[in-house]
Amino acid sequence: MFDIAAEIEKLSIVLYPHPSLRHQAKAIRRVDVELRNIIARMFDLMYEHRGVGLAATQVNIPLRLFIVNPSGRRGEGQESVFINPVVSRPRGNDEDEEGCLSLPGIYGNVVRSKTIRVNAYDLTGKEVDQEFTGFEARIIQHETDHLNGMLFIDRLSEGALRELEDGISELVVDFESRQRTGAIPANESLAKRLGDLESRYC
Ligand code: NI
Repeated sequence: MFDIAAEIEKLSIVLYPHPSLRHQAKAIRRVDVELRNIIARMFDLMYEHRGVGLAATQVNIPLRLFIVNPSGRRGEGQESVFINPVVSRPRGNDEDEEGCLSLPGIYGNVVRSKTIRVNAYDLTGKEVDQEFTGFEARIIQHETDHLNGMLFIDRLSEGALRELEDGISELVVDFESRQRTGAIPANESLAKRLGDLESRYC
């Protein structure tokens, strides 16, 4: 049987090219105590790695959910949970450097909309319908991409991507060797885990 408590205990940030990062996350139909525990654990991991946002697909959870705190520090700034987010009404363009907890050491300039509107649910089930701009809007667009299996490196120019080639290849070599030694489960068992989580929440 699928032991969700044990899974929450083991939750960690997966690194490129882990297949979960390419998973199309599914809408959440129910929130239970275990899902709240998953989110609490996501905040721990995000602060531990000094991130400002973290999507569920980055911890190998195939659900439409991400967390944000633009300050990157516990106890500072505004913590938000976005469940089933829908981004609309993009306005303006803004280019700035991005990184990602799943691509450590890799940074590149990404063009994003300057202002967006987001419709989502928070942890209490309350509907959020709000406009975001600047850094917060950038984080939300980056995390929404994660839920659609997209990474910021997919949005880089060919030239910029070529400059990052060596760092990206290192991540691939590292992932393949960890999968060979069994430190990362084989793709079939990863797929089974995603299916178990989807049938519980979707
Ligand atoms: Ni990311």
